[in-house]
Amino acid sequence: MTYADYQFGIYRDGLLDRRPPYPVDVHRLEARARELLPDTPYWYVAGAAGTGSTAAANRAAFDRWRIVPRMLRDASERDLRTELFGRSYPAPLALAPVGVQAIVRPEGELATARAAASLGLPMVVSTAASYSLEQIAEDGGPRWYQLYWPHDDEVTLSILERATKAGYDTLVVTLDTWTLGWRPHDLDRAYLPFLRTTGLAIPFSDPVFRSRLSRPPEDDRAAAVETWIPMFNGRAHTWDQLSLLRQNWDGPILLKGIQHADDARRAADAGMDGIVVSNHGGRQIDGAVGSLDVLPEIVAAVGEDLTVLFDSGIRTGADAFKALALGARCVLVGRPYIWGLAAGGEEGIRHVLQCLLAELDLTLGLAGLSSIGDLDGSALRER
Ligand code: FNR
Repeated sequence: MTYADYQFGIYRDGLLDRRPPYPVDVHRLEARARELLPDTPYWYVAGAAGTGSTAAANRAAFDRWRIVPRMLRDASERDLRTELFGRSYPAPLALAPVGVQAIVRPEGELATARAAASLGLPMVVSTAASYSLEQIAEDGGPRWYQLYWPHDDEVTLSILERATKAGYDTLVVTLDTWTLGWRPHDLDRAYLPFLRTTGLAIPFSDPVFRSRLSRPPEDDRAAAVETWIPMFNGRAHTWDQLSLLRQNWDGPILLKGIQHADDARRAADAGMDGIVVSNHGGRQIDGAVGSLDVLPEIVAAVGEDLTVLFDSGIRTGADAFKALALGARCVLVGRPYIWGLAAGGEEGIRHVLQCLLAELDLTLGLAGLSSIGDLDGSALRER
């Protein structure tokens, strides 16, 4: 089976009068999720910072690049395998860290983990997950851990140790959300999941964090929340503090949220292995640059020294193609798989991922390329 076979599988099912259980088009899938979800969780996922102009800029950036296909090349057999940090993955696609997934569907991250594992794709598990990192790792699929970095070093080291023990091999440190952006949709609903019931399973199950409380979270939830929030939110870290993470994590470390070539250079100087060029899906600053717009200059600055990953705005396989052609070694997708989770749990997420992979595979072939390694800027033209 190739990824592209998902396409003919759907057409063949049509002969038996069967339609795909979930929309293929991501906007129609989002509309399905909109029907199924109450307002608060829907807008928590769909919403962005301020007027939404950064989220719009993320999408507009893709439209500035056009794919230029080449003909009469044998691209009938294609290889999407990708090597990242010395490990081989079936395709250059990962599930971006998205916290509090239980607000969308009770099984949340557990469904996401199963869907990702069934395709061998890395799932980046958020510090704000609804389940503990050990529970999410149980099925043994490729797991990366995303750190919201506490300002308590012993808590940080305890979480990192737990992640290593549970089999997480790559650390993704998110830098752009040291304090929460201005999000009118959530403000209008006075809704922040962490203050309520979700997104706290990792700290609340951490022995060192628990030792900071006078009563366990089960007995005094409000006090535990009030201890955790200022521990990871409201104050930024600085470049010199990265050495703590470098010294205490054996695997690759990526910095997520990089949008400037100088910051990318500093990441390399600090001994990091990679970066995720990302603006958090436009959720942090309104009026910011589209993430894809800064990708080429960042790749030009550090592409030799760091593995550059990309997210923010990927909706289709053709989008993934463009980001990979501009030098990303792997792309992360966020909201689309959450719409799959809302519509159909594990199966819905798998559908979203299979659609993305099939379209990427077909786009690669139709552009005249037979492997991800052949993909570079010569496949694109700027409008
Ligand atoms: C996120 N994102 C995110 N990032 C992170 O590092 N830790 C987190 O806990 C979260 N949580 C989160 C929740 C929700 C509801 C969304 C939509 C996003 C950001 C995420 O990893 C990624 O950067 C963006 O989602 C990518 O943009 P797209 O694909 O959603 O456009």
